[in-house]
Amino acid sequence: VRTRVAVVGAGPSGLLLSHLLHTQGIDSVVLERRSREHVESRVRAGMLEQGVADLIRQAGVGARMDREGFVHDGFELRIGDRRHRVSLTGLTGRTVCMYGQQELVKDLIRARTEAAATLHFGVEDVKLHGLTGDAPVVRCTIDGEPTEITCDFVAGCDGFHGVSRRSVPASALSVYEHEYPFAWLGVLARMPPVASELVYSAHERGFALYSMRTESLSRLYLQVAPDDDGSTWPPELIWKELATRLGPDASEVLRPGPILETSVTRMRGFVAEPMQYGRLFLAGDAAHIVPPTAAKGLNLAVGDVRTLAQAFARWYSSGDRGPLDEYSATCLPAVWRAQEFSAAMTWLLHRPADSTGFTERLRRSRLENLVSSRAAATEFAENYVGVSRDRIA
Ligand code: FAD
Ligand code: DHB
Repeated sequence: VRTRVAVVGAGPSGLLLSHLLHTQGIDSVVLERRSREHVESRVRAGMLEQGVADLIRQAGVGARMDREGFVHDGFELRIGDRRHRVSLTGLTGRTVCMYGQQELVKDLIRARTEAAATLHFGVEDVKLHGLTGDAPVVRCTIDGEPTEITCDFVAGCDGFHGVSRRSVPASALSVYEHEYPFAWLGVLARMPPVASELVYSAHERGFALYSMRTESLSRLYLQVAPDDDGSTWPPELIWKELATRLGPDASEVLRPGPILETSVTRMRGFVAEPMQYGRLFLAGDAAHIVPPTAAKGLNLAVGDVRTLAQAFARWYSSGDRGPLDEYSATCLPAVWRAQEFSAAMTWLLHRPADSTGFTERLRRSRLENLVSSRAAATEFAENYVGVSRDRIA
């Protein structure tokens, strides 16, 4: 098998990259370890920055997002029992769009399939060879058959636990990593909306977030201990804790429904530099992880593949390798901006187990400053809706 770009992983990064390449007339083969059903039902992120939603529209895959997603122009911040609205449009003129990651994945798989793309699921034993030469080779097993794919480039879009980053010699990568002393218990519940916008709550018992997917599906998160495995959270306790942390007026309208899924996500920051090695380019979670608080993971992944697709387009249209050589340097400032903002928002909203009266008063003062200073709120909102990559490049 021969293709121009071998894409490892059919998460949002790999699928969107393959689609963007297709719109430029560049063929690719996508290799995904899990089944299509698994990939389409994996519940993860839900918030798209306006710039990301715009890119999805421009790429011709935004029709269902526009019909079924919710555009939000602000969110609520609760500090104890106090409610404060952060107006994203008032502060930045921009919005965000709530649309489940797995819905975007479904839309992308459909678009790729309709374009008769080569998309393989259930692919085993992916191994990358010859990355520093001119014609890398990907060996893998497709439908039980050993297969060899010769390509011009490999796009490593296979997430944090994928094979791509691990195919780079350790001496060629610098890794920067931080473990946060928090985890999130995430719940997907059949339940009408509690509020029309997201509610971020900084409660003395810990952080809670109310978010949504559809008119009848809600997504909720609770800060839990970093070693919590979720087993000590029967549904009654989850609802009780959510009601306490989201505050009296939310708990009045909180009508607990069937919990469809729970998961625990440990919080870590991670960046591998550079995001490329020879003819391998890493994008999305394969290159970096952020704690989920600011919902930047998916948005960063889309930013990476936009940059990468443009760089490939330049190479194939004019033979100019400059943008490909600059890929990592172009992405990293945005990655670190998101990393820093995600860290700041995490420390602002979570209560560490080892907090003291002093550290909690510092945190309270930062929250008060955010809700009383337009300058502070503007800086926060700019980062929340997403800083343009052109500005920080
Ligand atoms: P992924 O979505 O991880 O896709 C990688 C794909 O590669 C997967 O389909 C995987 O099966 C495949 N793969 C892996 N190894 C191989 C291999 N060896 N061969 C072939 N294929 C392989 N972000 C937010 O913004 N907000 C959130 O609320 C949020 N919640 C999250 C909850 C969880 C549990 C997790 C894990 C992540 C969450 N994220 C969240 C992060 C966000 O979902 C990711 O940033 C996003 O999925 C990145 O997309 P990706 O395509 O780069 O990677
Ligand atoms: C969601 C997750 C987040 O981390 C966030 O800040 C907003 C929304 C969500 O999954 O809906």
